[in-house]
Amino acid sequence: MRIVVTRRVPEAAMVVLREAGEVWVSGEDRPLSPDELREAVRGADAVVCMLHDRVDGAVADAAGPQLKVVANVAVGYDNIDMPALAERGVTVTNTPGVLTDATADLAFGLLLAVTRRIGEGERLLRSRTPWSFHLGFMLGSGLQGKTLGIVGLGQIGQAMAHRARAFGMRIVYSGRSRAKPEVESALHAEHLSFLELLRTADVVSLHCPLTPETRHLIDAEALGAMKHSAFLINTTRGPVVDEAALADALLRREIAGAGLDVFEKEPEVEPRLLEMDNVVVTPHLGSATVETRTEMALLAARNVAAVLAGDGAVNEVRP
Ligand code: DGY
Repeated sequence: MRIVVTRRVPEAAMVVLREAGEVWVSGEDRPLSPDELREAVRGADAVVCMLHDRVDGAVADAAGPQLKVVANVAVGYDNIDMPALAERGVTVTNTPGVLTDATADLAFGLLLAVTRRIGEGERLLRSRTPWSFHLGFMLGSGLQGKTLGIVGLGQIGQAMAHRARAFGMRIVYSGRSRAKPEVESALHAEHLSFLELLRTADVVSLHCPLTPETRHLIDAEALGAMKHSAFLINTTRGPVVDEAALADALLRREIAGAGLDVFEKEPEVEPRLLEMDNVVVTPHLGSATVETRTEMALLAARNVAAVLAGDGAVNEVRP
């Protein structure tokens, strides 16, 4: 069995993959280009890929009819053309669960950083700007009693809500479907329409997957519906937010600030956002802990091993 891995993975995952077949790993310290990806996958029975690899029908055809499984080392799988792979009988897997806490931690970190001006304060000191304590100095917004609006109350949205509850925040949420009553009551979470959530929340945190329906969910109109004092946090996928519209809204002071871990055209970032003190940015670090990234790679490797052994995948995603 030939297993193609598009980017280096932790050794623990390599051990599992080597037991399942002959492994080829890209030696590049960058994403493969579309041409390189099609070339690399030739003859593969399994492909372990990253969120920056676009895996579509052309990639599956380049691999050949023996391709059995594409294991995405991510929970999101918007980079995979699901109908094209289903048509070719290829199993697609992802890595849910193992990155829930790490991603919620980072989302809450961005929330604290932007509401308490942590990045701005750090930059002030590093620029050696003279300063002194006074009662009006660099005031941020407190969280206690404020409302967190969660868009998408899945596993990560719920983990974010738990953190916010510990900080005394009230939780409202919107999403495709209503959460189970026990989830709502554990989080004291109130279900609102998307528009009501935008109008109500002091912080809006995005946890929905990227789909055709959620692309540019946060556009000029949505930003216009938010409170002028509200903050936006995005740790899901960049294209859920219209980044140019966000920069416009921030410049016009339509919202108070943003904490962003993901970007519309990663690795590029809308340059105006980088100039703003009320924007905190991190380079797609949601799942970036040693423990979590190891678990993600291991889960992907286990999915490959299970499918190649003829067993069902551990985490199959369906179109
Ligand atoms: C995912 O798994 O989808 C994350 O974006 C990776 O950090």
